[in-house]
Amino acid sequence: MKILVLGGTGFLGPEVVNPLLSAGHTVTLFNRGRTNPTLFPNLEKLVGDRGSDLTSLEGRSWDAVIDVHASLPNWVKRSADALKGRCRQYVFVSTISVFPDYSKAGMNEDAMRFEAPEELDNDLKLSNESYGPMKTRCEDIVNDRFGAGATIVRPGLIVGPGDATDRFAWWPVRIDRGGDVLVPKPMEGEVQFIDVRDLGEFIARTVIDGHAGTFNATGPDSPLSMAEFLYGCRAITRSPVKFVWADEQWLLENGVQPFAHMPLWAPGEAMIGFMRIDCSKARSMGLTCRPLAETARDALLWTRERPADYRWRTGLDAATEKQLIEAWRAKQG
Ligand SMILES: NC(=O)c1ccc[n+]([C@@H]2O[C@H](COP(=O)([O-])OP(=O)(O)OC[C@H]3O[C@@H](n4cnc5c(N)ncnc54)[C@H](OP(=O)(O)O)[C@@H]3O)[C@@H](O)[C@H]2O)c1
Repeated sequence: MKILVLGGTGFLGPEVVNPLLSAGHTVTLFNRGRTNPTLFPNLEKLVGDRGSDLTSLEGRSWDAVIDVHASLPNWVKRSADALKGRCRQYVFVSTISVFPDYSKAGMNEDAMRFEAPEELDNDLKLSNESYGPMKTRCEDIVNDRFGAGATIVRPGLIVGPGDATDRFAWWPVRIDRGGDVLVPKPMEGEVQFIDVRDLGEFIARTVIDGHAGTFNATGPDSPLSMAEFLYGCRAITRSPVKFVWADEQWLLENGVQPFAHMPLWAPGEAMIGFMRIDCSKARSMGLTCRPLAETARDALLWTRERPADYRWRTGLDAATEKQLIEAWRAKQG
């Protein structure tokens, strides 16, 4: 098959391109030629800009298009209009952030999404607040233009080697440092994330196998508790580690911020569904997730390539963590 990948050279894109190439398909990339320009030297590269210049797509057709990176409805409207009638399938990478309400566990593909008015097409400013509504509007545009040829993939947190957000790697790295590690109760709280390589493989599969429709796509394959996650990360290091489990309310009262200080920790009734998204539909279509140990080890190794003075975007600094552990232990008596 001939496949056009819009983007393709950042974090997720290469993990979509590689399985397509391994399966013998012909891939063309479309981007500005700025991000990792030496990647994929043997592929056809079309240069343009999603916001202003799609001329290199003119007169061309493909079996399928994979739109990896877009969040602005304006971008998706332009590319969908330009490619309508010139590809059988248009795959759009969306997000579970299209759901405004995480108070219920087990949300499937039909759960309520944000309101996404057409006026969003004129808005070119992306923010934490506009991301969910904008992705929702992008989904609507793709479904409207491609109907039975539309595929929407909604990842949860994407992690693994190359993830610059530090929303996963913090834990294997912190645990590898050893000593007393402050961790959030409850031990049975669930966590979800997807290794970028498993997600890329699934997205490629939607094209190779021709799956249309909408798919929530996060992992792991079966429920994983916070304790299983943390002990799973501990299993990849020989450092002596003791977990210090603190109550979630106490952590919040003492200034520990979910995700910012403790990645993958989403406390409170309002967030109960955030890490319990139903992905059974994608799994029935071939989504599989590698073992936690592999993702944790590879994320840890990848962080070692960073400069020594790298400033983490998440996590507690060592002094604050130590103080908090002392305070928690003092409270326990
Ligand atoms: N990170 C998460 O946890 C998470 C969770 C859920 C969903 N998602 C979604 O997952 C996707 C991740 O995408 P990614 O960034 O890793 O994709 P990617 O395709 O690997 O990298 C971004 C690509 O977009 C191209 N690009 C950027 N600006 C462009 C422009 N103006 N015109 C043309 N091309 C442009 C870049 O190349 P040039 O710079 O050379 O143009 C690059 O090839 C996003 O859709 C995101 O919303 C992420």
